[in-house]
Amino acid sequence: MNLHNDLDPDADSSVFMIPLSATLMRESTATADNNKRSISLFTGIGLILGLSIGSGIYASPGPVLVRVGSGIAALCVWLFSGLLVLLGCACYAELGAAFPGNGGEGLYLLHSYSFDPDANIDNPANNPLGSLLSFLFVCTNVLVARPCSLAVIASVFGEYLARLVPILHSLDMLPRILGAILIWLLTGLHISSNRLSTLVQDVFTILKLISLLLISIWGFVYLYDHPEYDEAHNFSQQAWERTSTNVGNYAIAFYSALWAYDGWSNLNLVTGELKNPSRNLPRAVLIGPSIVIIAYLLVNLSYYLILPSDTVASSTSIALDFGNHVLGKTASSIVIPCIVLGSTFGAANAGIYTGARVTASAALRAQIPSFFAQSHIHHRISSPSSTASAATATPVNALILQAILASAFCAVAKFEPLVTFYSNLAWFFYFAAVLGGILIMRFTHPEKWVERPFRVWLPVAIVFCCAAGGLVVFSVYERPLEGVLGFGFLAIGVCVWYVREMWDEKFSRLYSRACHFLGIEDRWGSGTG
Ligand code: ARG
Repeated sequence: MNLHNDLDPDADSSVFMIPLSATLMRESTATADNNKRSISLFTGIGLILGLSIGSGIYASPGPVLVRVGSGIAALCVWLFSGLLVLLGCACYAELGAAFPGNGGEGLYLLHSYSFDPDANIDNPANNPLGSLLSFLFVCTNVLVARPCSLAVIASVFGEYLARLVPILHSLDMLPRILGAILIWLLTGLHISSNRLSTLVQDVFTILKLISLLLISIWGFVYLYDHPEYDEAHNFSQQAWERTSTNVGNYAIAFYSALWAYDGWSNLNLVTGELKNPSRNLPRAVLIGPSIVIIAYLLVNLSYYLILPSDTVASSTSIALDFGNHVLGKTASSIVIPCIVLGSTFGAANAGIYTGARVTASAALRAQIPSFFAQSHIHHRISSPSSTASAATATPVNALILQAILASAFCAVAKFEPLVTFYSNLAWFFYFAAVLGGILIMRFTHPEKWVERPFRVWLPVAIVFCCAAGGLVVFSVYERPLEGVLGFGFLAIGVCVWYVREMWDEKFSRLYSRACHFLGIEDRWGSGTG
């Protein structure tokens, strides 16, 4: 599978560092010729599975059970969060087919929230609220959400790697240091070759699916071989009586499960590179997450049937406890860490790929300095189907920025607080994109500016918005600190946007002077042409 990135198809091979082409607007990406779109349906599904299956399925079952109290309630949380993800996927299929460019929510929000039916939504001046939300999405993703999620995945990788060497495991900081090393190694791989990084992704996605299948099979085979086994009690009457009735607890439990499913919108971030997006995007975003949901339900059923509730609830490494039961301590201490290492390695790889492209596409839209859209040309692709000028480009500056920020997050990595912090922001933007891009725009601009090759049934979008909005409100109520930090960051973003919009000229003059003073080239806004 060849997932080359055609960020700048007109690039000259003699140029080492190049600024990417000016503006990536909706029309140009919509009509992009299929040669420039290199992601096939199969690769697209791989990108979703690659990021979705990572740390969560090995780290979240414990926190989910602790919050909701009983095995049945925990399984319901896994089931309903899977259904919520499917509703989100259906909405994102409509958005991605209507706006088939790179950037995901950054692109959808930019063209949404226009309340005047005659206004051209391609002019950001007509959608000030949309431009603000789009800017906030970009800042959040570039500066905190993506690096934070990468740090969580990498730290779980570090945790399990340290377990393989028992003497090292006693060093407190070691998992974080190993996580940061993983981030830099993978970033180096992505800078050096797109082909290699996508090959790594394909191989690890297949391994991850096999691992999940194995875990479910081991559980059921164990129960079949031990018909008298009855230690778990997760589904007993007493367990059911411990079921929590606190809504805030459910919101946090949903976040833990939704963290494991997160990645379902990954392909929307690179739709500009997907072949035949109006047909392939809806298929990929429905097939990929459905596979993940079925696999997770089976694996969780296995965990909860085999492990006693006290073990699940107190475990930070549920897969290892499960392995000790079904495989024995010796085999489990090697096999399970290897499975988790493979899973988190693959997810970090997929997260780095799309994370850097969110940054690069925002720089192309001049939402952040175009310096971050610069790419590194390595070699040309000479397949007969590619255009003569097609080149393999890696967004090197965006990759490096992401690695610096993610390693900083590694230093403070703590699973549940970081997941809650990330999820508040992520679900706020899922909510905002569907509300603006579907519910508002379908009524204010029925057909005029946006063609919608795929239309979701309206109640699906309404239910998704209510659920996503409710989730954010209840979890902020339950964990105010993470909420204040996340929304405090957005408030700072609003101020920056205001200053930029209101004092655009003064601001750019100030920025040029600062660049001059520091001796660097002023590239802010050069993308606007
Ligand atoms: N589902 C992944 C996991 O279980 C986390 C994905 C985080 N999302 C992101 N956009 N990086 O590890």
